[in-house]
Amino acid sequence: MNHLEHNRKAWNQRAAAGDVWSTPVPAEIIAQARAGRWQIVLTPSRPVPMEWFGELRDKDVLCLASGGGQQAPVLAAAGARVVSFDLADDQLALDQRVAEREGLSIRCVRGDMTDLSAFADASFDLVFHPVSNVFIPELARVWRECHRVLRPGGTLLAGFMNPALFMFDHDEADRSGELIVRHTLPYSDLACLAPEVLQAQVARGEALNFGHSLEAQLGGQIDAGFAIVGLYEDQGNDASWVYSRHGPVAVATRALKTR
Ligand SMILES: C[S@@+](CC[C@H](N)C(=O)[O-])C[C@H]1O[C@@H](n2cnc3c(N)ncnc32)[C@H](O)[C@@H]1O
Repeated sequence: MNHLEHNRKAWNQRAAAGDVWSTPVPAEIIAQARAGRWQIVLTPSRPVPMEWFGELRDKDVLCLASGGGQQAPVLAAAGARVVSFDLADDQLALDQRVAEREGLSIRCVRGDMTDLSAFADASFDLVFHPVSNVFIPELARVWRECHRVLRPGGTLLAGFMNPALFMFDHDEADRSGELIVRHTLPYSDLACLAPEVLQAQVARGEALNFGHSLEAQLGGQIDAGFAIVGLYEDQGNDASWVYSRHGPVAVATRALKTR
């Protein structure tokens, strides 16, 4: 199965359905960002510390797999020159819709996060990459491409799901409230789900998920040439998600292109 084509359709469907990650920010948020008061997330709920961004005015920012009319327009309103790159046409259309509504300029480019060949070497000061590598099977190329398109000293801000999450059967947790260890890491829907469960998920049009090791997430950034200089965990604020009552669901990192 072509995970890219399937996930593109799945995210177009989520955008049409008004998913929480496809709900454009309202005009007040943009007005506040223009006045210098703004917050955005890399992970489900905990805002990124402001000092992680540095001065954004006139900086080139790549919002990577971050469509939905959320972070890209806020960063543009805060004064950055923003490119939004995403697999799903309709997630990008939401960024464009907010930009037009607010008189902001955002360049939208469609593609897969493992191939940033649309961009020259050293063309950005900041890559903002919220939780989305859960939709691809292999991470090393993403970190290498982020490193290539950043200028020396540039910053990569990335969010990712807690690898431990992927050991558990979350459908069972929804039914019974119990977290049952079901899978071996690293996780892939394609390899770990029973064929009939996978088939039903695909038929419902849900995106395919992949869980990565800490080595692939943190070691991969370091191997690509980044120095990780900041990290926090996010408990998540969705009480219906049983795991979030027990531990953090996601991690955010700040990394610098130092070599
Ligand atoms: C959870 S949403 C993230 C966007 C959201 N604004 C946020 O706050 O996190 C995940 C995004 O990843 C995008 N995506 C999924 N697979 C991708 C891929 N291979 N390359 C680029 N984008 C991808 C989806 O279209 C979706 O917009």
